[in-house]
Amino acid sequence: MESDQLTLRLPLKYVKGVPLIRYFAEALGPLQNFQARPDDLLISTYPKSGTTWVSEILDMIYHGGDLEKCHRAPIYIRVPFLEFSVPGIPSGLESALNTPAPRLLKTHLPVALLPQTLLDQKVKVIYVARNAKDVAVSYYHFYNMAKVHPDPGTWDSFLEKFMAGEVSYGSWYQHVQEWWELSHTYPILYLFYEDMKENPKREIQKILEFVGRSLPEETVERIVQHTSFKEMKNNPMANYSTLPCDVMDHDISAFMRKGIAGDWKKTFTVAQNERFDAHYAEKMAGSNLKFRDDI
Ligand code: A3P
Repeated sequence: MESDQLTLRLPLKYVKGVPLIRYFAEALGPLQNFQARPDDLLISTYPKSGTTWVSEILDMIYHGGDLEKCHRAPIYIRVPFLEFSVPGIPSGLESALNTPAPRLLKTHLPVALLPQTLLDQKVKVIYVARNAKDVAVSYYHFYNMAKVHPDPGTWDSFLEKFMAGEVSYGSWYQHVQEWWELSHTYPILYLFYEDMKENPKREIQKILEFVGRSLPEETVERIVQHTSFKEMKNNPMANYSTLPCDVMDHDISAFMRKGIAGDWKKTFTVAQNERFDAHYAEKMAGSNLKFRDDI
């Protein structure tokens, strides 16, 4: 894979008020030509919420738990990332066009930027949400290692930007709430990272029911095992180690970093935590969406 014309650390570009990685913002135009199919399944998340994990689970489900088939290609090829675009690497749109039905697709887009065809075709959505504090910490490390993002600066300044929605994909608060609202009127299975950590088998059963499939008990057990953090961290088809290191530098921070709930406690200072909690209460006031920031 080449990544020769890649320019790193470009500033974010705002589209309809939402800041995005420059290359991804520029991919939204061509993405208007994307044609969804009713049998597509869309995985939607705010970044760093367990997207890769649920993608691997779904690819396993779609292939009846066949490990060999799920080793056929890296996760970003098996589950095309719609708005993905980086010079020298097939775009999400290209990958989607080359993927046979029924397709699994991934996006981090807020509802307002989603290609309308997905909604028109009533494409089912699995949304995964993760508590804001762990997302912020995970995102900070990701910004450092994935240099298509601007420089994150210090942790303290990154946290301020995260709270203000001035990071790629904008406000976490808005994202989790608008997809939650949409789930009341549209076919969305709304899952939580913390629930998946607590009881992956239970959450996989929910997914199976939602996608209208059933698998023998032993296959479900195999999926739980294959999609554990430890397995995925060591799986080159899941851990993003196949991307060029100028796109993702795993020596700075592994993509599969810690994979736990409550890791934020090691990073937030007491003052940052107090400030964050007060701001969080304001932003989430009136919402019945409840998160666990530990399990
Ligand atoms: P951390 O940085 O906290 O470790 P995404 O795929 O949405 O970018 O999310 C990445 C986060 O999910 C990272 O969090 C990563 O380690 C975690 N993750 C990936 N696979 C996982 C798994 N199988 N179990 C638990 N966490 C996982």
